[in-house]
Amino acid sequence: MMLMALRNVIELLYNRFMYIALLGRQPSLSLAELERVYGSENVHSFSRSVASVNTEFFNIERLGGTLKAGIVDITTNHDDWSSISQQIISHYSKIFSKHEGKITLGISVYDFNVSSSQVQKVGLVIKNLLKKQNVSLRLVPNQAPSLSSATSHHNKLGLSDNKVEIIVARRPGSTIVARSTGSQNITAYSKRDQARPKRDAFVGMLPPKLAQIMVNMAAGKNATDTTKTNSMRLLDPFCGTGVILQEAALSGFQIYGTDLSEKMVDYSEENLKWLFQTHRVGTVTNIHQGDAMDTKWSQPIDLVASEIYLGQPFSAPPSTEKLRQVVKNCEFIASSFLANISSQVSSGTVLCIAVPAWKDKQGDFTHLPISKYFAKANLQQIKLKTVGNDPLIYHREDQIVGRELVLLEKI
Ligand SMILES: C[S@@+](CC[C@H](N)C(=O)[O-])C[C@H]1O[C@@H](n2cnc3c(N)ncnc32)[C@H](O)[C@@H]1O
Repeated sequence: MMLMALRNVIELLYNRFMYIALLGRQPSLSLAELERVYGSENVHSFSRSVASVNTEFFNIERLGGTLKAGIVDITTNHDDWSSISQQIISHYSKIFSKHEGKITLGISVYDFNVSSSQVQKVGLVIKNLLKKQNVSLRLVPNQAPSLSSATSHHNKLGLSDNKVEIIVARRPGSTIVARSTGSQNITAYSKRDQARPKRDAFVGMLPPKLAQIMVNMAAGKNATDTTKTNSMRLLDPFCGTGVILQEAALSGFQIYGTDLSEKMVDYSEENLKWLFQTHRVGTVTNIHQGDAMDTKWSQPIDLVASEIYLGQPFSAPPSTEKLRQVVKNCEFIASSFLANISSQVSSGTVLCIAVPAWKDKQGDFTHLPISKYFAKANLQQIKLKTVGNDPLIYHREDQIVGRELVLLEKI
């Protein structure tokens, strides 16, 4: 308790929060990405849903795990809703009174025990105060205390001075109020996912958001700096339909993909051709057939991001015997790949690998036993401070096969 109070005071004194990030459905994945991109010294978990990020620039378009971002306007060392709401009303009605043109306002409150009508009331008070000053305001209705990121995106909140979203986040004894700088562009994601000419349900549909997280985790602090990414080549040795290569190209990386299947090589090539035409990006690209267990890749390889072979898809938990066979097969491919890639990259090269993890009827996961191969392959796991040692598993409720992210560095 004492420690938390002390932390609040230090944070308030130095006003360390510049941005807040609203974390995704699996907050540890979002946190891991933020920590890699901005550094553990700049990223702190504030509450269950929100992290603070000390950075001068936050580009939500290039982060797969952040749902909304905002610049911090108010920090308090209490969490009393009635006084927070008064502060919000007085702060924002003053700012908005100077606005020209109609304002659209949304308010989202996280980790606070308040109702949607209590939240809406704050907006209505601001609206009425502004009306007296002849400033017109449209309030985005709250179905819940927070607006979904889809609602924020469709209302373009945070994207211009007149389209504002106030984001309020609480943890015991402390509250942050921020002004949104944008939410995840779900329209762009679904276009990148669904409008690609070649998709394949059997090899799996890696969501672009997760591919982005993986690229960022491998790239670390270089991820959002195109002066750096332009001169780095990312390898995906199990490239499939090319989702990781696509997201890497959008971040400016040179891309290099290989896959055992000629069909997948063609799919990746066609999807990237489409991306370059539709998204006005282009980069040095090399895609060819190769078995990740023994291929000799061309150099340079500056970073690796890859979703390895996940075994067959399952619609129900497999029998113990079936699971044993699939695990054995995936383990063989993964361990042989790690030994092969490690012999071809230089010390310090980072690899972000997605490997399968299988969910049973109780919701527990069977993990791929690959950590025993790391030392032999001169690889070590990169520890993340914000997320601890729990496995980083991306999965959906209805899926048996999840993807476990493993972050490694060549020793
Ligand atoms: C889970 S999928 C990757 C999907 C990919 N992330 C995408 O964007 O579509 C795994 C891929 O590994 C390929 N594969 C399987 N065994 C392989 C091997 N030994 N070497 C290289 N690729 C392999 C499969 O053809 C498949 O395309």
